[in-house]
Amino acid sequence: MEIDGNTRLVGIVADPIAHVRTPQLFNAAMAGQGLNAVCVPLHVGAPQLPALLAGLAGCQNLAGLVVTIPHKEAVVAHCGELTPAARLVGAANVLRWDGARGHWVGGNLDGDGFVAGLKERGHGLAGKRVLLLGAGGAGKAIAYAVGREHPAELVLHNRSMARAEEALARIAPALPGVAVRTGAADAAGFDVVINATALGLRDGDPAPLPVDSLRPGMLVCEAVMRDTALLAAARACGALAHAGQHMLDGQLAAIARFFGLALQERLAGGAPMVEKA
Ligand SMILES: NC(=O)c1ccc[n+]([C@@H]2O[C@H](COP(=O)([O-])OP(=O)(O)OC[C@H]3O[C@@H](n4cnc5c(N)ncnc54)[C@H](OP(=O)(O)O)[C@@H]3O)[C@@H](O)[C@H]2O)c1
Repeated sequence: MEIDGNTRLVGIVADPIAHVRTPQLFNAAMAGQGLNAVCVPLHVGAPQLPALLAGLAGCQNLAGLVVTIPHKEAVVAHCGELTPAARLVGAANVLRWDGARGHWVGGNLDGDGFVAGLKERGHGLAGKRVLLLGAGGAGKAIAYAVGREHPAELVLHNRSMARAEEALARIAPALPGVAVRTGAADAAGFDVVINATALGLRDGDPAPLPVDSLRPGMLVCEAVMRDTALLAAARACGALAHAGQHMLDGQLAAIARFFGLALQERLAGGAPMVEKA
């Protein structure tokens, strides 16, 4: 990849930063499609975030910023405009500068990325009964995106059910005509189960629901980017196991679109834009 005076710049803002994988994925996809854009890591702690955003405001070759831990909620206060998903979730993971209006626009693509990752693997949600575990930032974003796919039913569960009720109160009004409610962590009767809790991040974490409620043919999805107890149990009982990595892969095209970069979701001939390992 050759950087020149026309290169569009994308920054990923995080603290810590060494673990991020977006630059590798983004740069491979951009180079693969001959697009002149590059993603670089910006290691910035919370105290320096306001100065970073003030300094980058109006930078004309900055396509946008990807925002991750711990800044997703803090950046909202710096935005003059939020997409519906970012407003509903109360957090943004992408920012772009709107020069005409003179403000940052914040978006939240976690949910769109999750749904795009499912579609990339041939899984649709229309008419399906979906159980979503976890009503944190990722859970709320996934709930809103899943709801827009017109499932037959969307049930939200969270360890602290008050948080599930709060998520329901935020999201249900934005999903008219969709049956959304809170419920138990029991997969019986569902077509799709999604784990958007933090359970699975650490070695030895249990599955987020009793795995004897999983059935062959169910689609069992992770947001956690590891091989978890839930995915192992799904495979063992003949369910379909959908890894958390697909959620990140699914976000790339959505991120590029948000930044106005012409990354194609699929190359001519149907090849994926990023080679899967
Ligand atoms: N693949 C991707 O691209 C992607 C993108 C974003 C996030 N993620 C993953 O999604 C997961 C959630 O992230 P987040 O941003 O939503 O975090 P968050 O806002 O901190 O929410 C954490 C969620 O996990 C639940 N939880 C934590 N410990 C638990 C336990 N011991 N038992 C049951 N539930 C527990 C919390 O329940 P309480 O409310 O009861 O505490 C809450 O629902 C993380 O694993 C993250 O890595 C993946």
